[in-house]
Amino acid sequence: MSHPWPEGVRFGDEGLTFRGRTARDLVARYGTPLVLVDETVVRERCRSIAEAFGRALWAVKAFPAGALIRIAHEEGLGLLAATGGEVDACLRAGVPASRVVLHGNNKTDAELRLAVGAGVGLLILDNEEEVGRVADVGRAHGVRQPVLVRVVPGLEVDTHEAVATGVVDTKFGVPMPLALRVLRLALEAPELDLRGIHLHLGSQLLDASPYEAAIDVALDLLVEARRELGWTAETLDLGGGMGVAYTDERALDLRGLAATVRSRVVDGAAARGLEPPEVVVEPGRAVTAPAALTLYTVGAIKEVPGVRTYVAVDGGMSDNLRPALYGSRYTMALASRRSDAEARPATVVGRHCESGDILARDVPLPSDLRRDDLLAVAGTGAYEYAMSSNYNKVGRPAVVLATETTDRAILRREDAGDLARLELPTAPRPAAPRPAGVEVRPARVRDARSLARMVESVAAEGRFIRTEGPITVRETRRRLRVGWSPDHAELVAVADGAVVGHLGIGRTPHAGTRHVASLGMAVAAPWRGRGVGSALLGAAFDWARWAGVEKLSLEVYPHNTVAMALYRKFGFVEEGRLRAHSKKRGTYEDEIVMGAWV
Ligand code: LLP
Repeated sequence: MSHPWPEGVRFGDEGLTFRGRTARDLVARYGTPLVLVDETVVRERCRSIAEAFGRALWAVKAFPAGALIRIAHEEGLGLLAATGGEVDACLRAGVPASRVVLHGNNKTDAELRLAVGAGVGLLILDNEEEVGRVADVGRAHGVRQPVLVRVVPGLEVDTHEAVATGVVDTKFGVPMPLALRVLRLALEAPELDLRGIHLHLGSQLLDASPYEAAIDVALDLLVEARRELGWTAETLDLGGGMGVAYTDERALDLRGLAATVRSRVVDGAAARGLEPPEVVVEPGRAVTAPAALTLYTVGAIKEVPGVRTYVAVDGGMSDNLRPALYGSRYTMALASRRSDAEARPATVVGRHCESGDILARDVPLPSDLRRDDLLAVAGTGAYEYAMSSNYNKVGRPAVVLATETTDRAILRREDAGDLARLELPTAPRPAAPRPAGVEVRPARVRDARSLARMVESVAAEGRFIRTEGPITVRETRRRLRVGWSPDHAELVAVADGAVVGHLGIGRTPHAGTRHVASLGMAVAAPWRGRGVGSALLGAAFDWARWAGVEKLSLEVYPHNTVAMALYRKFGFVEEGRLRAHSKKRGTYEDEIVMGAWV
């Protein structure tokens, strides 16, 4: 039995340690759910795959993080992209296009232009129609594009139906009876450089025999192709599918597979009087799955008497869809401490609003498991983050890459700002009725004392504005003296003679951004949710129209969802994120940039 924990994981008195760091310490720094990827293991696996097979591509769909793509490239693997988005991720990671291969059963025109234009090393033609489409794009770019034709070997394999791809009845590739015809068309197109054939059997295969059967089918086709078309393939791409251990299964031995494949190809070609083609493989899962684990915090534990114990964690089907989609099984363990309590079956569930949100059914966990314990799940380095979603408005986990000596986040945790970033204004700008008893007006110099006090009270909350205080009356007075002009305005909301809200707005001096004004505002805590902010914003838009400003811009902390909702009501949309742009008491925070047309 191969055990599914990454190599650097140990269980001891401090619970789980990952290359010498305790799970507790990592979680204190990065939070949960947390995906931990062992960089050393990823590098080792890339190297040994490249060494065993000679020519191998990593299917980046398994975990399309730029840092991992970069590592696979550095360790000698080419990259297999399933979409234009994945091609783009590879290029952004600094991989030369010549090391990227694009496949996919329904490539768009834009994807073909991106791939051919960038100069991908190989394009895998999925169907007859694509021959002409890629030839057209090649002509337009003045490129002779190297291609493979994907064929369907028509083989049943032992895996989940949803990931068995080499069967006759599939959406992928050219059915065998049409293969010669498509190869002929590709050979005849002067813009295409036909290098060979491609196939993919399915995913999570645990023995080598399907690969052997596929090699036989492929070599038979190549014999026919030589006879009928006078063409000799130089490349035979056998796809991916190499299975790993999640629980008690035995991972497919990759060195063994490489040796089996090599001798089958060499012997099979010799027996058929062919030159043996160069073999390419495309492992996705086998590169990264065993290198990662996910840490969750335990929340509610529910005993259904006589039925089952449910242990709920702070993630679920949004960060790991595989159990719900394929019935996949995982190994789990208590990570935050050691427990000698006896193990009993627990069903680990997520926090999503579905009964099917189950991460593992009846796995053995210590009977003294309690709220705030950490739970680790092994083997989560492929098709978990890759298939994650924001279901129930839950943000994606942080991903940390660790070696013996370093750890660093390669994907930051999604926050409220991320979850809202695609929202566009739906309602017209609200008329902003002035809340009863509150006056909104340009600030006067004599408001300085009250304004300074109000701003200081908001600053003291430490959450909503950049200002940290103390705020001097003199400084505030100086600011208010600038007063009301087409370049600048200071607005206050006043109740019972005291300033309860403030909005400052001004144009930036650059001629090219004269049409834009930036604003910042603050409302005293007791006055929030009572229309003061709306009244101030309404007045800011009035000033902008008067001043001939065309666009308003502001920055807001991602956690300040209430303010962002208010800004959205006024037509503001998210335009970007300033990373670690704010630093208060040594802590950095991102800011979200929002803009609205006046
Ligand atoms: N090559 C081709 C053409 C593929 O379609 C795939 C995966 C691979 C290579 C890599 O396969 P791997 O070595 O990772 O098995 N979401 C599913 C797996 C889908 C695989 C899709 N194609 C899962 O979570 O099990």
